[in-house]
Amino acid sequence: MCGIVGYVGHRPALGVVVEALRRMEYRGYDSAGVAILGEDGKLAVERRAGSPQVLVDALADHDPAEFAGTAGIGHTRWATHGRPTDRNAHPHRDATGEFAVVHNGIIENFIPLRAELEAAGIELESDTDSEVAAHLVALAYAEGPTAGDFVASVRSVLQRLEGAFTLVFAHAGHPDTIVAARRSTPLVIGVGEGEMFLGSDVAAFIEHTREAVELGQDQVVVITADGYKVTDFFGGEDVEIRPFTIDWDLKAAEKGGYNYFMLKEIQEQPQAVAETLMGHLVDGEIILDEQRLSAQDLRDIDKVFVVACGTAYHSGLVAKYAIEHWTRLPVEVELASEFRYRDPVLGQNTLVVAISQSGETADTLEAVRHAKDQGARVLAVCNTNGAQIPREADAVLYTRAGPEIGVASTKCFLAQVTANYLVGLALAQARGTKYQDEIMREFAELEAMPELIEKVLGTLDPVRALARELKDSPAVLFVGRHVGYPVALEGALKLKELAYMHAEGFAAGELKHGPIALLEDGLPVFVVMPSPKGRAVLHSKMLSNIREIQARGARTIVIAEEGDELVRPFADHLIEIPACPTLLQPLLSTVPLQAFAAELAEAKGYDVDKPRNLAKAVVVE
Ligand code: AGP
Ligand code: GLU
Repeated sequence: MCGIVGYVGHRPALGVVVEALRRMEYRGYDSAGVAILGEDGKLAVERRAGSPQVLVDALADHDPAEFAGTAGIGHTRWATHGRPTDRNAHPHRDATGEFAVVHNGIIENFIPLRAELEAAGIELESDTDSEVAAHLVALAYAEGPTAGDFVASVRSVLQRLEGAFTLVFAHAGHPDTIVAARRSTPLVIGVGEGEMFLGSDVAAFIEHTREAVELGQDQVVVITADGYKVTDFFGGEDVEIRPFTIDWDLKAAEKGGYNYFMLKEIQEQPQAVAETLMGHLVDGEIILDEQRLSAQDLRDIDKVFVVACGTAYHSGLVAKYAIEHWTRLPVEVELASEFRYRDPVLGQNTLVVAISQSGETADTLEAVRHAKDQGARVLAVCNTNGAQIPREADAVLYTRAGPEIGVASTKCFLAQVTANYLVGLALAQARGTKYQDEIMREFAELEAMPELIEKVLGTLDPVRALARELKDSPAVLFVGRHVGYPVALEGALKLKELAYMHAEGFAAGELKHGPIALLEDGLPVFVVMPSPKGRAVLHSKMLSNIREIQARGARTIVIAEEGDELVRPFADHLIEIPACPTLLQPLLSTVPLQAFAAELAEAKGYDVDKPRNLAKAVVVE
């Protein structure tokens, strides 16, 4: 996820582009850059790691005439491949410096494409996936069937790319034209008077025009000052376009029309899961992002610790079930703040998986340092490329949820759960406890999850209505078994941190050991039901638990698989989710709990994005 902007018109492009980047800083802010098309047939480029302000300061050192053109592109980056450094910042150029590209998303097959370019003698200067696009377009433009044709060269390259990408190209030989393409990540055209805009979202140009056109899947757009033309990737056929008038203000535009970033981020979860998976299965092999452990190191692992805090810790609890089931390795999940003070038994055959959205959480960072001091291997699961925890780890797997602005974590949780499954598959692969075909089957089941998450997102209105009805409840309890237990804990945490309500999650089997004393008339209790087609014993035990809960007058709100008729008589409210593999159910069952907590907080008039007393990254112990 990042901020992309393009402009062709009658104004100096630099000011328009930089202002747009500032307004889209929330979409990605580890780097920023611009490319301005000069009348002199040159492309002026500046890019820097850091915020758009760092870029602006760098631009001040240039002769203004260099950047005086009236067409240009810009990018604020949220790195997925290659640390946030100046040379990894966008725009990326080809070897001649005549083509510049900015990219949002992931080019999944960038590794073979890089190899092909290097074999052709082309030196790539960055570690990113994006740079390949600039070189490929330049090659297509230089010779072959699309030689000399800017749009056709772009189109020919698009057909070779896999993954999710919005790409915007500028070419020094076409100072009045910008070419862009969209697959699975957003791109909007802003239609002005004698000027045209492109943006990842309307925040890029809303102050200049409210007339817009959303680009569709696998479409190409060419913009000039006088207009735009949209065609499809392949045959270049004209396509039906969908003009609309923006009726949001800038603040709403930043949130995609939602009242809060968190609500938007809940909706972004299918993409967050899909992008976290992208590029990690190459020729049947699970690969991590940064791998400083050998296959033998992984094979020698005889114990796994998972350390994290808060929501990240809950994702680690889910990981335990998958990793133990797939690898037969013992897994301990520990709160990072407890881990280093209880003198854990660690050695060089211990793998410590540190999960952190920010990659800066002090408790988790200190746990990583303690683990390394004890000779353990550390694998980081992190959402922030270049953060301290992945820097200090021996291997890294990045979640690709994009920036998460809401303090209460939602899309990063689902991305962490997804990444943790990949860690489990990588360990199973290294240890041979799963054959390659089994690993590919599990990976395919994961790839099917974004669509199921999308389905759940479309059924949340009754959950929101229930939240408004229960907004004055004294407490809410959450129970689950197996992978449903961490989901119960996460649902309770969401309600605590957003609605400041007493909420507690329990392992359902624990109810009779004490918590059942809490049950009373009308008390809402969420029950996360396992699939009836998973482990039958789990399902029948949960049915008994629901009966116990109902018998004491509490109100059962049951999250269950579609078609689970056995549960229906015991559910005062039934929230149905699609069937999916047992271990993957948290990717679905968590979503209604996120929506419930957000809606209830809104009903109470609280700030959903900035809950009281909380910080997005807890960088102190
Ligand atoms: C989650 O909703 C909270 N904001 C908090 O528990 C968070 O998960 C925890 O502080 C860990 O943060 P990290 O993932 O950045 O390490
Ligand atoms: N994958 C590209 C990179 O890591 C683009 C990331 C983004 O969307 O900002 O540079």
